[in-house]
Amino acid sequence: MATLQNNYFLKALRREPTPYTPVWMMRQAGRYLPEYRATRKKAGDFLSLCKNPDLATEVTLQPLDRYPLLDASILFSDILTVPDAMGLGLYFAEGEGPKFERPLREEIDIQKLKIPDVAYDLKYVIDAVSQIKKALQGRVPLIGFAGSPWTLATYMVEGQGGTDFLTIKKMAYTRPDLLHHILKTTTEAVTQYLHAQIEAGVDAIMIFDSWGGALSHQGYLEFSLPYIKVILSNLKMMGNKKIPSIIFTKGGGLWLQDQAEVGAHALGLDWQTDIGMARQKVGHQVALQGNLDPAILLSKPEAVEKEVKSILDSYGQGSGHIFNLGHGITEHTPPEQVDVMLKTVREYSQQFHMK
Ligand code: CP3
Repeated sequence: MATLQNNYFLKALRREPTPYTPVWMMRQAGRYLPEYRATRKKAGDFLSLCKNPDLATEVTLQPLDRYPLLDASILFSDILTVPDAMGLGLYFAEGEGPKFERPLREEIDIQKLKIPDVAYDLKYVIDAVSQIKKALQGRVPLIGFAGSPWTLATYMVEGQGGTDFLTIKKMAYTRPDLLHHILKTTTEAVTQYLHAQIEAGVDAIMIFDSWGGALSHQGYLEFSLPYIKVILSNLKMMGNKKIPSIIFTKGGGLWLQDQAEVGAHALGLDWQTDIGMARQKVGHQVALQGNLDPAILLSKPEAVEKEVKSILDSYGQGSGHIFNLGHGITEHTPPEQVDVMLKTVREYSQQFHMK
């Protein structure tokens, strides 16, 4: 395997010195890029794009070709490939986001839930990882990812996104045993899935807990965080000790201290948390990734510059910060605004890394 030409992202995850603050963006390959829309059209639809390793490789590399200042790439796929492989029947209704043909509602279906055979049912993702690693030729590290068991379960039980989570919360409060069964099975599936991605060559992993913030304080500590912890410790036991990990709970700013204890190298922050305050709380234990509000990219270049600088100022001197958005880039973003963000990060951050 080619050695990496730029490993600043991995160094920052380990809180080692870098000459500037490395940066990448959640959903950096996506609909705001005309070249992405063209490739998706070629594939037919989003899911066919995910399932075609050649085209998934193509779109993974698109943002890197357009923006040479990016310090990391992320596998092009989706967190919902796992429940799809568990037999729930994922589809994307045009303009409506993800849905499942067979949501998990009845006890009998929940008891029958099976861990997928990753090497077979998710072969297309693992093939994409190998192809992307080859195509990158060591330019930047490749991030692999999965959804957290809780976040996957919200889609599995609700049957779609964009709900108020009442179906799954009712299950949590009336039949916690059923929800724990779903979470346990999904934890095993995600562990095997991430292990396979690591074997195929990803350089770091990220666990997206996009809906952890919908839980109560007690609920987060019972239904989300412990399962993330199990995944990370099982991966370590399986021999993946050197692979750095990031966990990202959207809306999870109140639980940073708990998150810092589960064995991840870094915590992802959404835009509601002040990164300087987060650093004071947990910066001695973990690196921090974030946290520009993606909506700022819809504003003027001067506003983008100002906001980027204020985040870098707030984090302050020293390493352990990976610049990112606080959530995925929106499809309405003018691609030139990303140039402004990246250039500001690269130029303005160097003062914080002087010896
Ligand atoms: O970051 C990257 O560039 C990697 C690719 C990636 C996608 N989805 C591609 C995608 C990653 C890491 C994800 C993760 C994902 N998927 C999450 C966790 C992160 C987050 O955003 O909170 C979630 C919750 C999903 C589920 C999902 N997939 C939703 C809710 C949607 C619809 C929302 C939307 O933006 O339309 C998707 C579709 C999706 N996943 C798209 C992309 C590029 C857009 C689909 C399209 O091209 O039409």
